[in-house]
Amino acid sequence: MKHIALIPAAGSGSRMASATPKQYLDLAGKPLIWHTLSALAKVAELDRIVVVISREDEWWDSFDWREFKYLEVLRCGGASRAESVLNGLQALQAAVDDWVLVHDAARPCLDPALVSQMIVVLADHPVGGILAVPVADTLKLAQLGQQIVHTHPRDGLWQAQTPQMFRVAQLAQALATGMGPDITDEASALEKLGLQPKLVMGSPWNLKVTYPQDLRLAELILAAREV
Ligand code: CTP
Ligand code: MG
Repeated sequence: MKHIALIPAAGSGSRMASATPKQYLDLAGKPLIWHTLSALAKVAELDRIVVVISREDEWWDSFDWREFKYLEVLRCGGASRAESVLNGLQALQAAVDDWVLVHDAARPCLDPALVSQMIVVLADHPVGGILAVPVADTLKLAQLGQQIVHTHPRDGLWQAQTPQMFRVAQLAQALATGMGPDITDEASALEKLGLQPKLVMGSPWNLKVTYPQDLRLAELILAAREV
């Protein structure tokens, strides 16, 4: 049974407000997604690394990816993250019970050791699971005008990260049947089928680069890891 990393990288990065999609923006001298791939390439348990890019992608081919020996690229991105992942799963040619670890291209500070840990923790799990961190801040529910309605208890609340690790066929089925705006990660598709993925402790350093200021933060995290 194989472990396959699947990296959705077909987004346009609208919140980043940059003409170049954020996965190709410069981060410490390399395109952002290079760091994501570099982290995954260090995970010995992974058998394949597969990137899903947009059919119209004009940037991928302008970089040299030869140092990543096992990299596969699929030009089958969809209109939403979930569609990109589903298209990727359908094009993968994997065995039904292979594990797929879906990881956002936009999380370049992933610690390879956390991926190895989640593979060990979930090895015998019937469903699979995700990296996540417990919510640290006090949560407020707001109404129009930024008025607080109430404080939402944070007990038991976690922030989902990636990788999210599931069986190839089960995840494809969950995404195909559950597809909709409420499916914002892989786990939510499995939950919709009544299944209970496991939470595996992630790290606050595994941030998703979303807004312009996140690039600087990612750069600082990568630099801190090097010393
Ligand atoms: N993604 C994708 N296909 C899409 C949308 C998103 O493969 N149609 C990928 C992005 O490239 C990113 C990951 O899913 O690596 C997480 O999505 P997000 O951070 O939301 O990226 P974008 O959708 O590109 O950004 P935004 O929502 O600000 O437009
Ligand atoms: Mg998005």
